[in-house]
Amino acid sequence: MQTQNREIKVLENGEAVSRAAAEMLVDISLEKLKSTESFAVALSGGSTPKNMFAMLANDAELRDRMPWDRVHFFWGDERHVAPDHADSNFRMTHETMLSKVPVPPGNIHRIRSENPDAGEAAAEYEQELREFFKLEEKQLPVFDCVFLGMGPDGHTASLFPGTKALHEQKRLVVSNWVEKFKSYRITMTAPVLNNADIIIFLISGEGKAEPLRAVLEGEKQTDLYPSQLIEPTHGKLLWLVDKAAAGLLKRK
Ligand code: 6PG
Repeated sequence: MQTQNREIKVLENGEAVSRAAAEMLVDISLEKLKSTESFAVALSGGSTPKNMFAMLANDAELRDRMPWDRVHFFWGDERHVAPDHADSNFRMTHETMLSKVPVPPGNIHRIRSENPDAGEAAAEYEQELREFFKLEEKQLPVFDCVFLGMGPDGHTASLFPGTKALHEQKRLVVSNWVEKFKSYRITMTAPVLNNADIIIFLISGEGKAEPLRAVLEGEKQTDLYPSQLIEPTHGKLLWLVDKAAAGLLKRK
């Protein structure tokens, strides 16, 4: 695995990972916005981000420093459910953070996953990215920041082991059939995620120790460990990992 521009930070526990991520989002966006008009971040689902979102909304210092009116929120992946469904990544983010902070509705770019046709929902989101980033035919968006998680099976975003989306090179967003859930997911593709200025993985818990070792220190097998597909084209890759998840790493 390419190690250039890669940093692994081991923190005490999941709480510390969420806090570091929340502080980083505030700091990185404030820094970037000194020279640009707006800041685009792609969020993920999962438990560690949930805690991070709660901190951004409820910690007065973080909430007051965050430039809400100039940050645009996107999602790296979504479940194929309506936005009010208990499994919706949008719903989780809305409930824990977006409904509690002064973010203009126009800055919230959710995946229209209520569309019964997951392929169409993916195509619509791709179009939204093309318009927001003003992309020409073959251009990729450059997110200022992408947050990712990793499942115990090594998946990231909704790039699951052995699925078709892992090999997508042209599309920005695709629907991806995940046999073990017998359902579609909608996900940004690896080329889009890899084109971000900074990619931050949030990893916590003992259940992640084995896949993390395999992804970071094992042989390259991207079909088996899709998180290994994440190799930034120009940006930085930061792994925020708690002690339990880092437990099996040789290089600390
Ligand atoms: C999702 C996610 C997914 C997630 C990992 C890790 O929608 O499920 O985007 O890729 O990040 O499954 O989730 P945890 O942090 O909860 O383990």
